Amino acid sequence: MTDSLPSALAIEAHGLTRRFGSLTAVDRLDLAVSTGTIHGFLGPNGSGKTTTLRMFCGLLRPSAGTASVLGMDIAHKAEAIRRRIGYMTQRFSLYEDLTVLENLQFVGEVQGVPARKRREKIDELLATYRLKDRCGQRVGTLSGGEKQRLALAAALIHEPDLLFLDEPTSAVDPQNRRDFWENLFDICDRGTTILVSTHYMDEAERCHSLSILDYGQLVGSGPPREQIARLGNRVVEVETDTPREAQTALHRAAGVLSVAQLGTQLHVLVAEDAAAPVELVTRAMRDANLIGRVHPARPGLEDVFVAVTVARCKAQHKEAA
Ligand SMILES: Nc1ncnc2c1ncn2[C@@H]1O[C@H](COP(=O)(O)OP(=O)(O)OP(=O)(O)O)[C@@H](O)[C@H]1O
Ligand SMILES: [Mg+2]
Repeated sequence: MTDSLPSALAIEAHGLTRRFGSLTAVDRLDLAVSTGTIHGFLGPNGSGKTTTLRMFCGLLRPSAGTASVLGMDIAHKAEAIRRRIGYMTQRFSLYEDLTVLENLQFVGEVQGVPARKRREKIDELLATYRLKDRCGQRVGTLSGGEKQRLALAAALIHEPDLLFLDEPTSAVDPQNRRDFWENLFDICDRGTTILVSTHYMDEAERCHSLSILDYGQLVGSGPPREQIARLGNRVVEVETDTPREAQTALHRAAGVLSVAQLGTQLHVLVAEDAAAPVELVTRAMRDANLIGRVHPARPGLEDVFVAVTVARCKAQHKEAA
């Protein structure tokens, strides 16, 4: 792999691993992110999302495996990579006692943007991210949404080819989250590849492709719609007047992976090897002397997430027993 050749892949990882003492935070991760796309990282707390991003940004050395970012090997080209990427960290990392403008000027300088270009770029970013009126305000006094827009602007000041966003919307309301995602699609349309970690299913579903992480391992990958389609008919719904009793009974039934209550309905996910999901659930209800109407339901990304994480957990329990 060379530095200069444009690659169809913005990120490529093979067996990427990071250990902290006896803990394996990222475990043999394989990944390919196409240039000009938005790729999502979905995973519970501690599943290794930030650790992986930090390795791609050249801030943390892998314990094993290889990865290239924009065609450059992360083990040898960390400095060159840092110049061409933007990184919005999980925790707000700008200076709270400087103003909006001072922060952008500072980041622009650190990133080596020439003075004239810096002024133009800052004007453009202030306009795009609706921060013109906040220019002279100390950052510590901004609202959560304004801080987030400023952090995004700061990550873009040197016009990076690749943007890493670590849970960028965790502190903002639903409307601001929607607006933020519109911004991401604009950035992507202009040719920047984006890797974004999230806990939100609706955000994960918007990504062109998605990696699901659990205990540092890749447990699901591909376009969200394909991952949902792969679930086939494994989701059924139960309408019943006794949802609590039915939930308890179905939890115990062999072949049932998860049961979630939504009002008076139960949303049930069955195991991959269960042949006839509706019949399985109907039988489990009958065996528990419960009355309910069972019908097939459309799976969603949350079902994919539960399927991969719960199935893994159950398999581990079985192994341990
Ligand atoms: N510097 C470190 N030293 C020791 N352990 C670490 C270090 N950094 C991360 N870890 C551990 O690695 C695991 C993965 O952490 P990481 O921050 O990557 O998870 P995450 O998926 O980003 O979680 P969250 O959704 O909570 O942000 C955790 O168990 C964490 O405690
Ligand atoms: Mg994290």
